[in-house]
Amino acid sequence: MKKVLHIVGSPRGAQSRTLRIADALIEKIKKVHGEIALDTLDLFAEKLPEMNITRVKGKYMLMSGQELSGDAVAAWEEIKAHIARFLAADIIIISTPMWNFGVPYKLKHYIDIVWQPGFMFKYTENGPVGLAGGRKVYVVSTRGGDYSAGTPAEAYDQIIPYLKTVLGWAGITDLNFISGQPMDANSEEGREAKIKEAIGAAEKLV
Ligand SMILES: Cc1cc2nc3c(=O)[nH]c(=O)nc-3n(C[C@H](O)[C@H](O)[C@H](O)COP(=O)(O)O)c2cc1C
Repeated sequence: MKKVLHIVGSPRGAQSRTLRIADALIEKIKKVHGEIALDTLDLFAEKLPEMNITRVKGKYMLMSGQELSGDAVAAWEEIKAHIARFLAADIIIISTPMWNFGVPYKLKHYIDIVWQPGFMFKYTENGPVGLAGGRKVYVVSTRGGDYSAGTPAEAYDQIIPYLKTVLGWAGITDLNFISGQPMDANSEEGREAKIKEAIGAAEKLV
């Protein structure tokens, strides 16, 4: 049975356009793969551990090739649990609205917790190597405006380049981006049409 982790980056629940597209994607995944084990991580409901001085100290231990020691050991338990939850998945769906040109701060917080040396990537003589490859990732995003490829606003979009870099750094190459836009700079019918278009694109990708 496929394990699917859905990382929810919008706090808007039933109002969320991003989640409407992601829900349709999940339904299609169920149709194609049969029964799935779905793990939903709602980043706005979850109390994510702070990357405070103790946890950052632990990161520097790992970056310099040492084991975690002292108070970093206990402080890293929650971080390790989030990493294990991510790595347990075969398919990961990241649902993210655009907030100030990039991802909402809760998603950035999650990435700062989970992207750790020795777990998601390692440094070798030949440079960094990703350790989380072999997983399929869908990034579902919606934006108030239109930042589509080929438009003048494309350069302002920090969601796609940022997530490509971060996921690529972890060795994840099976990346599928689904975008719904424009959502706010649009009429109600226009927005509805764009949501349906994105759902169609998502279903095709599965
Ligand atoms: C805090 C905040 C910041 C936003 N910043 C942008 C932005 O920089 N560019 C944009 O086009 N839309 C922006 N929006 C609009 C959302 O991206 C858009 O409404 C999106 O569809 C919301 O997704 P959701 O319904 O899944 O929450 C912002 C919305 C919020 C709440």
